[in-house]
Amino acid sequence: ADEPLVLGIETSCDETGVGIVHGTTLLADAVASSVDTHARFGGVVPEIASRAHLEAMVPTIERALKTAGISAKDLDGIAVTAGPGLAGALLVGVSAAKAYAYALGKPLYGVNHLASHICVDQLEHGKLPEPTMALLVSGGHSSLLLSSDITSDVRPMGATIDDAAGEAFDKIARVLDLGFPGGPVIDRLAKEGDPAAIAFPRGLSGSRDPAYDFSFSGLKTAVARWIEAKRAAGEDVPVRDVAASFQEAVVDVLTRKAVRACKDEGVDHLMIGGGVAANSRLRALAQERCERAGIRLRVPRPGLCTDNGAMVAALGSEMVARNRPASDLELSADSSLPV
Ligand code: KG4
Ligand code: ZN
Repeated sequence: ADEPLVLGIETSCDETGVGIVHGTTLLADAVASSVDTHARFGGVVPEIASRAHLEAMVPTIERALKTAGISAKDLDGIAVTAGPGLAGALLVGVSAAKAYAYALGKPLYGVNHLASHICVDQLEHGKLPEPTMALLVSGGHSSLLLSSDITSDVRPMGATIDDAAGEAFDKIARVLDLGFPGGPVIDRLAKEGDPAAIAFPRGLSGSRDPAYDFSFSGLKTAVARWIEAKRAAGEDVPVRDVAASFQEAVVDVLTRKAVRACKDEGVDHLMIGGGVAANSRLRALAQERCERAGIRLRVPRPGLCTDNGAMVAALGSEMVARNRPASDLELSADSSLPV
């Protein structure tokens, strides 16, 4: 049989994403982002995100269809992020997906946002081996997940107990007046700084701490206090060293725990996804530690790591390929949908 042709809609946060895939081939990945509007507020404002999704939804779907050069009636299914995410934002995507599915008479697939962050890697590196360990790090989540079947069996191993990794990057960038989002700027400045200049704390790294959970709020406070002390003493803040040392503390814990989870579970593939997966030091250290542990590392290109519609289409395509049941038109958004 021919490979499934699926359109995917993602509206869990501030990007209105519509992707179209054929099997594991990416045909279109249209994204409209409201990030510039949120930048003025230093973070995502849910009400603004919902309104922006509403305005961008239909044009973005049309743009994706045009780019893919297909007609909506040729689709084998429509997939949509059902959760987790911002309730109002999710609702826009779910409503649009239901309307198109109903009008076109196509099966509807409500998918999990975290699972689709993992599945997107198939568009770049081919079918994901099962099991695969996944480290998902973004502004909204920081989780270790064990995927034994991407459509039905993704087990949470651990997660952050406070801030997400990306959130920590954004908050430290704010303290340093570097703008929003902070990750890319810190990544860039850190390249010129010394990661060993300041010994910032590694959260939950003690032998009695949970092996796979993360904590970044203590680190955030430690960095903020360190900067305050410098300023109070009338000294210059060595921004590059602070950026490098902070970033090292984050990626050290992330990679160490991810590799440990792989070893403990006997899993020899690790994928890293989410916006923070764009971080150059995270990629380099993960590569180094995976190589040493005999683990194959898979990281999609940055454009596929951040929220997009292609990842939803990728998982939808997998649902069709594996004959998973479609959702009914009663599908609703669930802001805290578990994997
Ligand atoms: O996945 P994403 O686009 O949106 C969600 O949060 O779901 O991730 C955005 C997050 C932001 O916190 C941003 O600062 C962070 O990813 N980020 C980075 C880098 N690029 C983006 N963090 C560290 N290094 C980067 N190069
Ligand atoms: Zn995400």
